[in-house]
Amino acid sequence: MTRSVRVPDVRARKGARPIAAGAAGRPAAQGGESAPLVMVTAYDAPSARVVDEAGADMILVGDSVAMVVLGYEDTLQVTTADMVHHVAAVARTRPRALIVGDLPWLSYHVSREETVRNAAALVRAGAGAVKLEGGRKRLEAIRAILDAEIPVMGHLGLTPQSVHALGGFRVQGRRLDAARAIVEDAVALAEAGCFAIVLECVPDAVARVVTDSVPVPTIGIGAGRHCDGQVLVYHDLLGLEDRHVPRFVRRYADLRSAAVDAVARFVADVREGRFPSSEETYHMTDELAEALHLYATPEGAMASASEGPVEPGVRVAPPR
Ligand code: KIV
Repeated sequence: MTRSVRVPDVRARKGARPIAAGAAGRPAAQGGESAPLVMVTAYDAPSARVVDEAGADMILVGDSVAMVVLGYEDTLQVTTADMVHHVAAVARTRPRALIVGDLPWLSYHVSREETVRNAAALVRAGAGAVKLEGGRKRLEAIRAILDAEIPVMGHLGLTPQSVHALGGFRVQGRRLDAARAIVEDAVALAEAGCFAIVLECVPDAVARVVTDSVPVPTIGIGAGRHCDGQVLVYHDLLGLEDRHVPRFVRRYADLRSAAVDAVARFVADVREGRFPSSEETYHMTDELAEALHLYATPEGAMASASEGPVEPGVRVAPPR
C-alpha cells in the first residue's frame, strides 16, 4: 500500500524533469519523485479509479465537468453543490492521488466568507486542495482560503470562467504586455502561497519564463514542455469527447468509437435474437418449469402454486 500524495509532495517536485523511458510508470511514492507531475481530471468513482490506478499524482475534479459530463457549452453553469457532489464521488474511491477540487465561477468572487465556506465544502467532500482561476485580482480570495488552512492551486492563461471577458476560448499571452502580466500574476500567486499553478493555453516561451520565475510547480495544459507537470481532461485523453479537440490534446484511446461500436452490437444482438444466450439466463429444473407453465396456462390458472418468491431474474411468461 503506497502512501497518498500530499501538498508538500507536489511542491517538492518543482524543477522535476522527465526520467528515463521505462521508469515513467512508477508512481511518485515508488521512486518517481523526480519526474514531472501528472494531473488528470476525474468526476466520478469509475474515472477516479482509472486515473489513480494509472499512477497520476493528482486528480483534478475540474469544473470542466460542466462541459464533458453535464453537456453545458461552458463551465459557468456548475455550482459549488455540483462540485461537492463530484468531489465526494471521487473521494469515496480513496485514491492515492491528491484530490484537487475546482472552485466554480462565482464561488470565490462575492465575499471572503462565501469564498472560505465554498472552499471548505470541497474539503469536507474529500478534496485535499482547491483550485481557482485568476491572477492578482484573486489574491484576497486566495489569502482568505489559505487562512483557513486550505491549500490553493492557481490557474492562469486561458481561464475558462472568463470566457465572455476573454472573447472565447483562445490562447493567452501572445502579446508582450499580456505575457508579462501572466508572469507577474504567477509571481504574485506564488508569493501569496499557492502550492502550484496551472498554465492553460499559453505559448511555450511564456510557460518557460513563468516556470523559471516561480518557486512552485507549474502544471501545463496547452502550455508546452517547459512546465513542471502536465494536466489533461480525462474525456479528451481517452477520446470520449470529440466535439472539439484542441491541438494540445493527445488522444491515447478512442473510447467513444469503441463504446458506440459495443452498444451498436448489443442493439443488433437483441434485435436479431442473439441476446441473451442460455449461459446469460437463469434456469430452473424442467419439472419446476413444467409445473409453472401449467399454472400459467388458462387451464391451470386457478391452481395455487404460490411456493414463495421467484428467484430474482427469473422471468415468468405472461399467461397466453
Ligand atoms: O476544469 C478543468 O478541467 C481544468 C483543467 C483544464 C486544468 O481547470
